[in-house]
Amino acid sequence: MGNFLFIYITHLPTSVAATMAAETSVCQEIPSIIMLFLLCLSSTAVEPRSSLSRGSHLSVEDASDVLTSQDNTFTCGFYNVKGANAYWFAIWYTHSMEKTTVWMANREKPVNDRGSRLTLRRDGAMVLTDVDGSTAWQTNPTSTEVDSADLLNSGNLVLRDRNGKILWQSFDYPTDTLLPNQTFTNSKQLTTGIGKYMFGSGYFSLFFDENNVLTLTYRGPEISSIYWPSPDCSTIFECGRTNYNSSRVAVLDDMGKFVSSDGLQFGASDMGVGIKGLLKMDFDGNLTLYSLNVSTGLWVVTWEALIKLCNVHGLCGRNGVCEYTPSPRCSCPPHFEPTDSTDWGKGCKPKFERTCKDSHFVELTHVDYYGFDINYTQAISLQQCRQLCLGDCRCQAFSYRLDGKGWCYTKSSLFNGYKSPAFLGNLYLRLPKEIQTTEPTNLNASGHVCSINMINTTEILPSYHTNNQRSTFVFLYSFALAIGAFEIPILVLGWWLLFRKQGVPDLVEDGYRTISSQFRNFSYAELKGATRKFKEVLGSGGFGVVYKGTLEDARVVAVKRLGDEVIQGEEGFWAEVSTIGKINHMNLVRMWGFCWEAKHRLLVYKFLENGSLDKHLFSTSFLGWKDRFRVAYGTARGLAYLHHECLEWVIHCDIKPENILLDNKYEPKISDFGLAKLSQRGVTGSQVSRIRGTKGYMAPEWAMNLPITAKVDVYSYGVVILELVKGIRLSDWAVNDSGEPESELNRFVSLARGRFRKGEKSWVDEIVDPRLRGNFSRNQAASIIEVGISCVEEDRNKRPTMESVAQVLLACEDETAICAPENK
Ligand SMILES: *[C@@H]1O[C@H](CO)[C@@H](O)[C@H](O)[C@H]1NC(C)=O
Ligand SMILES: *[C@@H]1O[C@H](CO)[C@@H](O)[C@H](O)[C@H]1NC(C)=O
Ligand SMILES: *[C@@H]1O[C@H](CO)[C@@H](O)[C@H](O)[C@H]1NC(C)=O
Ligand SMILES: *[C@@H]1O[C@H](CO)[C@@H](O)[C@H](O)[C@H]1NC(C)=O
Ligand SMILES: *[C@@H]1O[C@H](CO)[C@@H](O)[C@H](O)[C@H]1NC(C)=O
Ligand SMILES: *[C@@H]1O[C@H](CO)[C@@H](O)[C@H](O)[C@H]1NC(C)=O
Ligand SMILES: *[C@@H]1O[C@H](CO)[C@@H](O)[C@H](O)[C@H]1NC(C)=O
Repeated sequence: MGNFLFIYITHLPTSVAATMAAETSVCQEIPSIIMLFLLCLSSTAVEPRSSLSRGSHLSVEDASDVLTSQDNTFTCGFYNVKGANAYWFAIWYTHSMEKTTVWMANREKPVNDRGSRLTLRRDGAMVLTDVDGSTAWQTNPTSTEVDSADLLNSGNLVLRDRNGKILWQSFDYPTDTLLPNQTFTNSKQLTTGIGKYMFGSGYFSLFFDENNVLTLTYRGPEISSIYWPSPDCSTIFECGRTNYNSSRVAVLDDMGKFVSSDGLQFGASDMGVGIKGLLKMDFDGNLTLYSLNVSTGLWVVTWEALIKLCNVHGLCGRNGVCEYTPSPRCSCPPHFEPTDSTDWGKGCKPKFERTCKDSHFVELTHVDYYGFDINYTQAISLQQCRQLCLGDCRCQAFSYRLDGKGWCYTKSSLFNGYKSPAFLGNLYLRLPKEIQTTEPTNLNASGHVCSINMINTTEILPSYHTNNQRSTFVFLYSFALAIGAFEIPILVLGWWLLFRKQGVPDLVEDGYRTISSQFRNFSYAELKGATRKFKEVLGSGGFGVVYKGTLEDARVVAVKRLGDEVIQGEEGFWAEVSTIGKINHMNLVRMWGFCWEAKHRLLVYKFLENGSLDKHLFSTSFLGWKDRFRVAYGTARGLAYLHHECLEWVIHCDIKPENILLDNKYEPKISDFGLAKLSQRGVTGSQVSRIRGTKGYMAPEWAMNLPITAKVDVYSYGVVILELVKGIRLSDWAVNDSGEPESELNRFVSLARGRFRKGEKSWVDEIVDPRLRGNFSRNQAASIIEVGISCVEEDRNKRPTMESVAQVLLACEDETAICAPENK
């Protein structure tokens, strides 16, 4: 078959092209020009048909020989990438600017531009044959009942009998795309292509795993690893998934909502009737939901599974490390070099011989490799961890966590490497003694500071964005072009040459330009209508007044009208808002869009039924214990996500009960995150502009002129959870015994500490909100109090991270568990 795959790099003057296009038939008569199939593509005047009857065929030479669904949404026929002699039998969206394929019959085995045919044979089989008559693909099983092949309006190609009964359908054999109404079941999977225009099966797949959970998995030549849902969320509760429903079925409906039996649910940000969407496994391992903008023919991203690409496993291969600089890139650790500099998927190889004796270690800060732990041990020192590694010849490196718990992981292989300033730990790479490590490492970075920098930009911007001079980064995606999965590598080379010459990528790129956000730009009139001229006020916060509204598609929203201090430039506003719009977590309020028109600046959020936490805590109605615990835990998770996991390491800067909203199940959702960044910064010299938080919840460093880090949120969170326990505002001031003003918080903390030290058994009962009348879990309460007190430490270094807070509370989810952290 290799013999038939030639490359024709065509390059004709446009005048010739125009003449040729005018008369399609010429194409068939001049064999030497047949290869200029490019030209034939544009001329179609034949009546479109949606059905192929038994015994007839489609041929590759005639570009108008296609099936088109009755409503003209989908077309099915021979597809190729301009300039290459390789054709796939595929279904694509008729109206997208670039042909966007949604299904492919012969993804692994393209056919020639001459003589290839798709035939609905008399025996009922649909067969794709190459020019030499070999079968590239065929439907199975065959049935003489088959009467016709039809392309339905849903994009489903079906073989039907006379009565319209479906005997075979393309929906049962998805490639990398799921269409609306196409059910995704146990037996199906979506598998990425190798690269943008390379359609063979790549390494990343979406499928239901044996635990009934829909997962994204990397299955490479050396390893296999699940990367979504995040392997860090060990419990079902944490991921919002369940493994109890074994029906293993998921579907994207034609409103743009995706529902899976494992509890996963999401919706396109432009959800509504008649949107043309598709859920696609992108070749970089990202699962993305797109909607077609019918007027421009461009695809808009309306949801994506991963915000951080470095969380995709396998991207940088063995020993490689993924990091943001600021786009994701692969690099090699010191004394390693790329195995294949054109293909980072092949990873890095050591420039030294690995030996067991006489080793020493080089430190890579904030680097970790996921998986392949020989052993993990808690509560040991760095020295002991080092000894563990030295004592085991399999150990190539060890990871040591700097969260004060002394976790030590020894590694037998190094895969899925990433560097993130949010990762609190270092990796120690084992090297033979002879190797000098005076050479600075190319993975050196300074600690992370948040992106919310209304104080002093130079002070806060992480410097790691710039100090990569020594490194030999190659843009991550280049690997896509280099994997030679076709029979003739030259084919690939040919494309590349052609692309370079004709600038095709730019053109094709256009078809895929995304507005890189999951949400919409609303018009002012639309929001005015939705809120009935801003009639119903829900509340007003630091950034403006919030109104209730109902969109045309019946979604209830909260519309926030921003005050004057918002960033003035449209560019900056758009950038900030689209970053916020990308952030998606069950404990963060979802932003659905915004409006920027004349002087109007509005943000559109999902409306939450139960309002803010303060209304349920400090008033006559009050939350029961279970809900309070859920609020404490959920808020911790939301913050941990903002601080550690999301794209930009957002610091909230104004955590308080008013900014914690509750949905109908009392699940907490943090609101107003990211807004600190939207407000105008740089009122130079003005101290006041620093003060963003709310008195009583503000960490001491705000007043002390120290750089603001994520620990300010930890402090505010501490105050909130202590309030949850006590049921009163601790942010208020009171007068103490000696007649001096003292904050309720200080009083509470010293009371709790005192009682605890005395070892009084009933200390918890005396502290917890008396309105609960003793109906609460002692263990959970004790744990929250201890966490809360550690969060409000004056010294921010003594405060825990939100990630570890979430872990401690998770351990307490079971009310009977003894989970309180050990006391100092
Ligand atoms: C999806 O299914 C529903 C209900 O069966 C139908 O009304 C709708 O037209 C279908 N949508 C598409 C795009 O086929
Ligand atoms: C399992 O999931 C399916 C599909 O989402 C749903 O219809 C069914 O009710 C679920 N079963 C249980 C027991 O929750
Ligand atoms: C489609 O794109 C155009 C131009 O960018 C824009 O004006 C229009 O609002 C978009 N339509 C939808 C439905 O997003
Ligand atoms: C996921 O893929 C889409 C489309 O290629 C892209 O817009 C988005 O930025 C990707 N996400 C990440 C984390 O790379
Ligand atoms: C892990 O290390 C400990 C010593 O710290 C040892 O007792 C244990 O057997 C090791 N476990 C494994 C699986 O090697
Ligand atoms: C990182 O760089 C700083 C100065 O730029 C240097 O002091 C430090 O030793 C370096 N760390 C490592 C691990 O090379
Ligand atoms: C910001 O911080 C840098 C370094 O600490 C300092 O040199 C600069 O003057 C500061 N800028 C302002 C506006 O305070």
